Order: sequence, then structure tokens, then C-alpha cells
Amino acid sequence: MESGDNKYNRKALNKGELAGNTQGNEVLLKASGISKTFLTSEGEIKILRGIDLEIRMGEMTSIVGASGAGKSTLLYLLSGLDHPTDGTVSYGPENLSSMSEKKLARFRNINIGFIFQFHYLLSEFSALENVMMPLLISGKSKKQASELAYNILEKVDLKERVSHRPGKLSGGEQQRVAVARALVTNPRIVFADEPSGNLDERTADNLHELMAEINKSTGVTFLIATHNQRLANMAEKTYELSSGQLHLQ
Ligand SMILES: Nc1ncnc2c1ncn2[C@@H]1O[C@H](COP(=O)(O)OP(=O)(O)O)[C@@H](O)[C@H]1O
Ligand SMILES: [Mg+2]
Repeated sequence: MESGDNKYNRKALNKGELAGNTQGNEVLLKASGISKTFLTSEGEIKILRGIDLEIRMGEMTSIVGASGAGKSTLLYLLSGLDHPTDGTVSYGPENLSSMSEKKLARFRNINIGFIFQFHYLLSEFSALENVMMPLLISGKSKKQASELAYNILEKVDLKERVSHRPGKLSGGEQQRVAVARALVTNPRIVFADEPSGNLDERTADNLHELMAEINKSTGVTFLIATHNQRLANMAEKTYELSSGQLHLQ
């Protein structure tokens, strides 16, 4: 077992144990009446049907639901990676649908981190260089980017792995690099789409505890789509997505 995996191998977390009480916090993200219809060769399919959602600063929220329910679609809409057919997504006064693609890309780079089921690290670059990438895109100098990336890799317990390419890392380590990459810009919210879907149970639990720990220590907001009930239970709030609507559990 890799040395790094132990650090977060604490006792199983109870619901809300790490996620603080964020009830009084400012609303970070508000979705109003969003729906999404895809056009396919078989005609229109309506995936999301008028979703309203508010996410507060510092909150850890999970979304569960059957495969194909529309969890990924919802995360893409909330993070501005795709546009709703109807409805609006806003972050305070900033409405995603009224932004140009260029402004939206900049908004995402500054405010949003994304962790996917597959790490999507660049195979020709080291862990450190992969984590530096969003900072270089945002205009930071190489020196600043390298320092910040190193610090965050240290936080996810990968100090000894910074110069390794993704192919030389275990699945759990690759996802921890992806977590570091999502956090390095100090975003307001991190969207995680089945972040442990590709990991064995123990490695998955370690990743979940790392995310909960980060939520607690940095106050970064998390919205997580998952099949994993243990991960879903760590969140302060869990919604089930079914028939195109969210139901608070
Ligand atoms: N670009 C697209 N065009 C057509 N259908 C899509 C597209 N993206 C997703 N879908 C369909 O929307 C449904 C929901 O997909 P998805 O959001 O990936 O669900 P989940 O993440 O809950 O498994 C699925 O039936 C999927 O095939
Ligand atoms: Mg999905």
C-alpha cells in the first residue's frame, strides 16, 4: 500500500460530521427552472424537467440517481460546460447564460474546479505540470504556478510523486492529482462527477475522506454526483435525481 493512502484513512464519517452547518451561509449558486432536451435520431429526449437548486457557500451536496438519470448533464449545466434548454444558472449577480463563450471560459477557470470519473491528466506531463496547467492558463508565471501546484500536491499527500507522469501513478494517486488540479486555482466550487467510480472500495473511501477533509479545512463548496452511497452520505444534503427532477433525501 502506498504511504500516502494512510493519512486520510480515518474512521468512517457520519453524515454531516465533517461538512459544517452552512445553513446561514450566502447562496453561491442558484439554478432556476432548468431543463435540458437532447435531439437524437429517435427524436427529442427530455432529460431534466424544471430543476430549481440552491447551493450555499461551503456546502457539500451530493446527487444520486440511476445511470442515465441526467446527473452528468446537470453538473455540466451548473458549471457552464453546457447550456440549458430553458432556465437560468447564476452565481450571485452573474448569470451564466448571458456570458459569451470567452467570458464563460474565464469564469470557469477562476471559479470552478472539475473532477471526473477518469482523471484526464495529460500523459506527457508530470503530476506537478498537470496541476500547474490551470494556473498557467489563468496567466500566472511559471514560478508562481509551480509553487502553488507543489503546495497543493503536498496537501493531497503526493509530495513524493510530483515528478511522476500519470502512467507511473496508481489509480488513487491519479485521482488525487485530479483533485489537486481542481483545487489549485482556489475555486469557489468543485464539481465532482463519479470521482471514485473507477477505484476499488478502499481507495475510493480514502478519496472521499480527502474530499470531506478539504471541504472542512478550506471551506470550498462541493457538488458531487455519485453512485457511491458512502460518499453521498458524507454530504450535508443529498438529492436524488429521477424523472428529470431533484428530490431532497
Ligand atoms: N449530448 C447528448 N446527446 C444526446 N443524448 C445525451 C447527450 N448527453 C447525454 N445524453 C443522454 O441523457 C441521459 C442522461 O445522461 P447523463 O447525464 O450522462 O446521466 P448520468 O450521469 O445520470 O448517468 C442519457 O440517456 C444519455 O444518453
Ligand atoms: Mg454520469
